[in-house]
Amino acid sequence: MFQATIRIRRYNPEQEEQAPYYDQFMVDVKKNMTVLDALFVIVEEHDPTLSFRCACRLGMCGTCGMMINGRGRLACRTKIEHLGTETVVAPLRHMPVIKDLAVDMDPFFKSWQKIMPYFVPKEERNDFAIILPSSGRREIIDENQDCITCGLCYQSCDVITMRGEDYIGPAALSRAYNLIADERDGAREERLNLVSGDDGAFGCHVFGGCVEVCPKGIKPMVTIQKLKEKQIRRFLGLKW
Ligand code: FES
Repeated sequence: MFQATIRIRRYNPEQEEQAPYYDQFMVDVKKNMTVLDALFVIVEEHDPTLSFRCACRLGMCGTCGMMINGRGRLACRTKIEHLGTETVVAPLRHMPVIKDLAVDMDPFFKSWQKIMPYFVPKEERNDFAIILPSSGRREIIDENQDCITCGLCYQSCDVITMRGEDYIGPAALSRAYNLIADERDGAREERLNLVSGDDGAFGCHVFGGCVEVCPKGIKPMVTIQKLKEKQIRRFLGLKW
């Protein structure tokens, strides 16, 4: 279809003498070819040492997040024909590089640990705690349920750029909201305490980078404002 230049940031922390640099490859782009497809072509035809991470190739596992032309995207869902004849690929921000495009996602998942990301049953029971479709409770959390923990919102968050791992970050705060909004959860009070500080919901500056990049159309910034509302309502003694 056309030829594209793919520029890739290369770096191997184990080779300290070699500073990060950009490598350039020419790839024959076919219709519907994704950036991930192009990376495989480069590995097969040009440089087998190129490192990146992927699994499902369907936009479901969240492992192929990277910076593509300056914006966080899933490589397997980004078609080169939409990017033009030059594509620049770099690893996600805010996470240490393991090698080339593969990053260590520890900072992202550590932020999840801060919010107790698991359901705590209010009462011991042997059957399922069902949410009736007619209750309207499911719709409250529906929009956040599709998170694939790709880390794109985390890497786009300017509060994390400014404050580093001190701030919990968009994905974990969204997850916290879903649990706090679930009336079956027995740790709502404790969890709201965990996310109500300046390192949580009130640290959000409403920049909106997270909303822009989420491949699932989730709006963490909006959800974070709902967390602030819950904390204010609790402070005023209102139902939250
Ligand atoms: S490879 Fe699974 S989301 Fe891209």
